[in-house]
Amino acid sequence: MRALVRETHLEPGDCIFPLFICPGEGVKKEIGSMPGNYQMSVDETVRECVQLQSLGVGGVILFGLPPSKDEEATGAYDEHGIVQEGIRAIKRAVPELLVITDVCNCEYTSHGHCGKIIDNDVDNDITLDWLAKSAVSHARAGADIVAPSDMMDGRVGAIRKGLDDAGFAKVPILSYAAKYASAYYGPFREAADSAPQFGDRRSYQMDAANGREAMREIELDLQEGADMIMVKPAGPYLDIIRMARDRFDVPLSAYQVSGEFSMIMAAARNGWIDLDRVIIESLTSIRRAGADFVLTYFAKDVARLVG
Ligand code: PBG
Ligand code: ZN
Repeated sequence: MRALVRETHLEPGDCIFPLFICPGEGVKKEIGSMPGNYQMSVDETVRECVQLQSLGVGGVILFGLPPSKDEEATGAYDEHGIVQEGIRAIKRAVPELLVITDVCNCEYTSHGHCGKIIDNDVDNDITLDWLAKSAVSHARAGADIVAPSDMMDGRVGAIRKGLDDAGFAKVPILSYAAKYASAYYGPFREAADSAPQFGDRRSYQMDAANGREAMREIELDLQEGADMIMVKPAGPYLDIIRMARDRFDVPLSAYQVSGEFSMIMAAARNGWIDLDRVIIESLTSIRRAGADFVLTYFAKDVARLVG
């Protein structure tokens, strides 16, 4: 009877699994702060994707750890960069698996910031050019959706124009539209080796105290041509997800980020909470708040538990 009257459903197909691609062959290195998640070389990533496809997850989002980093983030828009080669290999092996790519520069810059540094600050407009080039290189490699996570102003418009001019008018943009300057990204910065070497990201990511500002950020991204939007983090920002759901009639996602994952895992490993129940409850709550789909390190667990 409970199943019959349940208002919110959660399926593996609602979940996007993040993957961290690193150089080499046969590399599968566990991320210390994120048990059960790995930095994987392209061959291992492909093996993982075959399994993910058979589990029925909604798709993957790719992050790259380039062999070297520089001031200009050249690895981010290299036609043969780590993510670009990863996409090609995945699409050869499992063409049906939905591939989303994270578009940002922080994994590729020597200083770990999301864009070009001028006078100790990220220069918004120069960075737009890098982002557009990255998105186009991902599309050329076969990405189904590009997802800019940098929070520069005007990036969605710049990426849309870049994609259209290069003949990729049909590749949609999933915008990390309401992305907060969050301490919950801590473990990710180990996973993607992208911690800023000085300062923080508060000049371009949002202040946790602000909700209405998130609505303005989303509105701007939609005006510039975003096809889908994201709220990030998810669990501590359920009110923002709900506000966005009520206000904008476009596909809405939320990112249950690394810190949310690691806190749940740590408590479970101490025997303080029931892992499987908290996985389902946390993700169901994110869906109940209004997210159509969720980026989550628990995607495989959802397949195990409700698949
Ligand atoms: C890159 C990016 C970050 C995350 C996704 N894309 C980190 C950041 O902005 O510092 C965080 C994801 C997570 O914590 O799981 N800009
Ligand atoms: Zn970034």
